[in-house]
Amino acid sequence: MSLDKIKMVLSKELAGLEERGALKGKETTIIGVKEAERDKGPRYFVEGYGDKEFLRMNSNSYLGMDLKKEVIEAEETAAREFGTGPGAARFISGTYKPHVDLEKRLAKFHNREAGMIFSSGYATVMGVLTPLISQDTIVISDELNHNSIINAIRLARPKDRKIYRHNNMNELESNLKECIGNCHRVIIATDGIFSMRGDHAPLPEIADLAEKYCPEFTEGIITIVDDSHGVGATGETGRGTTELTGENRVDILIGTLGKAMGVNGGYLVSDAEVIEYLREKAPFYIYSNPITVSEASAALKVIDILDSDTGKRMLKYLHEMTVYFRKGLVNLGYEVIEGKHPIVPLMVRDTGKTIELVKYLKDNGILVTGLYYPIVPKGDEEIRFQICAEHTRYDLDYALNILKEYKEQTI
Ligand SMILES: Cc1ncc(COP(=O)(O)O)c(C=O)c1O
Repeated sequence: MSLDKIKMVLSKELAGLEERGALKGKETTIIGVKEAERDKGPRYFVEGYGDKEFLRMNSNSYLGMDLKKEVIEAEETAAREFGTGPGAARFISGTYKPHVDLEKRLAKFHNREAGMIFSSGYATVMGVLTPLISQDTIVISDELNHNSIINAIRLARPKDRKIYRHNNMNELESNLKECIGNCHRVIIATDGIFSMRGDHAPLPEIADLAEKYCPEFTEGIITIVDDSHGVGATGETGRGTTELTGENRVDILIGTLGKAMGVNGGYLVSDAEVIEYLREKAPFYIYSNPITVSEASAALKVIDILDSDTGKRMLKYLHEMTVYFRKGLVNLGYEVIEGKHPIVPLMVRDTGKTIELVKYLKDNGILVTGLYYPIVPKGDEEIRFQICAEHTRYDLDYALNILKEYKEQTI
């Protein structure tokens, strides 16, 4: 037996990706972290760059919780008490007290009846959507939804799937009208914060439409919001897009512990009956290990911090720094997408120029991510800056200065 034939096919596919500029290529390996000191936030060391220090502006850990001493201590203590891994899936013997405590705490955090954790945000989306999509369900989805929603719909094979243009509520309403008489159940799925743009879904309008058309379907309309980038990062107390929009009628709210929470894993909160059903029916939960006990304990500590005055101060600072950086880019003449989230997209609108600017920033000690087609639509090529509560004013001024230099050189 040999892999020679298939290797030729795979290489050809990769070459095609490269030709289209869609290859992600070699990953940057972080080999060390230097603690924040004086007016500088943490710095990162990257394989192949010796002792050059990098400012990291492409992390989803918006609050810098991953480096907080109390969080690390909580993780260490739990590992000593319970060991490093759960050793089994939840229903076998992998349920530990910190898992259960975390689920209760997440429910309380979002003011919902019950919570349930999965091994990642991606697994949560797959785990929630697939059991809820019956053969008589039509799913309506925003065109810019995260890949996890797209793949969950593919896997579940609903009766039909409708895509509306990004945040276009007229199209969502038309889609809902088209569903009448054609299915028993409708699911509206949207990201809360859209990860490529930092803007958010109009949750009040979506909830109004769901309420308006719900009586038309025997099994109703379920609204599912994946707020992986929103929870912990946005809203005055970090509750995410529901807090930002003041909308609490979301039926199922999904979040991740792996971004602003700085740990790892995913979760949903909803009514108790929904959670009870998913524990029995979600294969991504039933047949896969949960997060480690250490991760659950670290996440509990993160929520403690978020709900304390320190957490509120961190969020306030994060939001101030985001406004500062966003304004700085605009003052330099760069195009950004409006939003309140610490994702600040600098729109380059050209693949070659995006690659060039990412390289320029890296040469100058700044790690950022360029996004090109097919991750974003053609013409929307951008650099996604992500602000973090660990960034100092010095750090942001440094980045803005490098961007100023670049602009002056390229005019
Ligand atoms: C909107 C959205 N949902 C889900 C995920 C997956 O989260 P995780 O990394 O916890 O699997 C991401 C990650 O980028 C995301 O942006």
